[in-house]
Amino acid sequence: MPQPESDLTKIYLGHVISPLSSTAYLDYMRGALVVNSQGKIVDVAPWAEIQHKYIGDGHKTGEIHINDENHKTDDNHINDSSFQIVDLGQRLILPGLVDLHLHLPQVSQTGRSGEHLLAWLNKYIFPAEARFSDTNHARKIATWFFDELAANGTTLAVVFTTIHKDATDAAFEVALQKGSRVIMGKVMMDANSPEALTEDTETSLRESEELANKWHGQGDGLLLYAFTPRFGVTSTADLLAGVGRLFAKHPGTYVHTHLSEAKEEIQFVSTQFPKARSYLDVYKSFGIIGKRTVFAHAIHLDDQDIKTVADSHSSLAHCPSSNFFLKSGVFLYAKICAAGCLFGLGSDVAAGPSMSLFNVMKDANYMQPDFWIEPPELLYRATLGGAKAAHLDHLIGSLAVGKEADFIVVDASRKSGIVDNILSQPTDEILSSLVFLGDDRLIEATYVRGRCIFHI
Ligand code: GUN
Ligand code: ZN
Repeated sequence: MPQPESDLTKIYLGHVISPLSSTAYLDYMRGALVVNSQGKIVDVAPWAEIQHKYIGDGHKTGEIHINDENHKTDDNHINDSSFQIVDLGQRLILPGLVDLHLHLPQVSQTGRSGEHLLAWLNKYIFPAEARFSDTNHARKIATWFFDELAANGTTLAVVFTTIHKDATDAAFEVALQKGSRVIMGKVMMDANSPEALTEDTETSLRESEELANKWHGQGDGLLLYAFTPRFGVTSTADLLAGVGRLFAKHPGTYVHTHLSEAKEEIQFVSTQFPKARSYLDVYKSFGIIGKRTVFAHAIHLDDQDIKTVADSHSSLAHCPSSNFFLKSGVFLYAKICAAGCLFGLGSDVAAGPSMSLFNVMKDANYMQPDFWIEPPELLYRATLGGAKAAHLDHLIGSLAVGKEADFIVVDASRKSGIVDNILSQPTDEILSSLVFLGDDRLIEATYVRGRCIFHI
């Protein structure tokens, strides 16, 4: 089981920024994040306060060897105390990023353009997913995938694998070994799919339940299970009814699926389930609704659907880069906010071309034709908003005492194109640069529950 790498409390010094809401954020220019040996945040405050609290009136400060380079902590002992100081200088310390929707097997398929959803699936995606019948291949791609997630600063991802039980098992093993935090599940497909990806309904349900029994809650809660029917098109009524039953039977598990992404998809579903008022009603009629249900895309919703999402505390994964790429339509951002729906951002790799949530934040703003989404709101959606949508905001999503230390270290000066003197700008300007110019090159280190899972 992944453990923080040291049994010392660590004090990370840097510019600490953490969302408090969609419009406000905590901002300590010379701040300190104090993380105990269990990977919990025990303090977050200006360094001057922390210094006073932990080091007192300074009689020990002569023994502090602060290291500014690459987080090397070996020399940072305060000799007779049980904590270490890691001075990150002007680097930013932000909560880890939350990717509410993406596909592990598609990491090799980004940038394959030229088609709308259903044709794109048939041409590129289904053949790539069929190769996951080879578990060695699946393990190799899973290793790549989790390394990429960490390198992009993603500390919680909500993930589709493929229909293959062994491949999904391997993906969980890799995530466990790397210390990743994930909500993941085997894809379920029992209709209108290529032969190599068509499951027997009972097998799909049984294997999903076996995986949920094996993995949900493992890694001391870092690994959570999501029952994952692909979408209405590839599901029979029996499959969706079974998913509803499994979801009700296994407390704390999730359901993760696609909803109302493309017009042709919606048309297909309406002929398959003619009695349903809407696509969302199909899922609702099978008990696939409510807390810990994550619907990706949800573009073509009507007012009644939006109210149902809000009232049921279901969650939406807004995937603007993907929606641009497949020309699926425009997420009703303002309406969905006004209705009080829970939602965050998803990269939707591979329809989304990049795993970087910075790119997704930028696209969320670009996607809206007639209003701006401000940088603090975008950062909120990629962190605390996403954690709320995953119903995990009591644990992660912001840098607050009592939460688990999922955070990233960002060097805002590392990417060319970001104004030279960025670090001396007001924090609003720094956030704007991050959101509109940022990508994975800014991520210097990624921590999950206090453990470093990526470092340049
Ligand atoms: N709908 C069903 N499957 C998929 C998928 O793999 N990607 C996207 N973007 N939409 C889907
Ligand atoms: Zn998707």
